[in-house]
Amino acid sequence: MPLLPILRYPDPRLHKVAAPIPAVTDALQPLIDDMFATMYEAKGIGLAATQVDVHQRLIVIDTGDETPAPLVLINPDITWASPERQKGEEGCLSVPGIYDGVERSVAVTVTALDRHGNPQTIEAEGMLAVCIQHEMDHLMGKVFVEYLSPLKRNRIKTKLLKEEREEQLNAPSAKGRY
Ligand code: NI
Repeated sequence: MPLLPILRYPDPRLHKVAAPIPAVTDALQPLIDDMFATMYEAKGIGLAATQVDVHQRLIVIDTGDETPAPLVLINPDITWASPERQKGEEGCLSVPGIYDGVERSVAVTVTALDRHGNPQTIEAEGMLAVCIQHEMDHLMGKVFVEYLSPLKRNRIKTKLLKEEREEQLNAPSAKGRY
């Protein structure tokens, strides 16, 4: 299972809006497996297809203990969100090393298809509820840093762009170039 490159903020492709998946077919299965492998390798608990530059409504989640099994959400839709909201610290595989507070509903109900195309309804709270809301934002082209102040967001942008430049300079392929 090949690992997929994860887009990093502020890559403009993270702001594309994902399209619904017209049919759950066998052709989709390798992508789902690769997304799980990529997420586990990166030690994440959720990954949206948008983050691997596939602009379709597909999310994989494995929060560990809280989820009965690793979740595949295809064409997910939040049908209910609790009015009660809470601020919690979030990070994102597309924003490495950055953690900050985001206010979310403490519980949500989501309907989606599973990897076999069967409808499922998930009533989530706690970490899973936060994760679902975070990943569904990705499908809408939204990264969690967009909830932060413009000042913070710009600092994060500058920091990540600098790190990316430094990595490119240090990459073996860059050596010996004139
Ligand atoms: Ni994320």
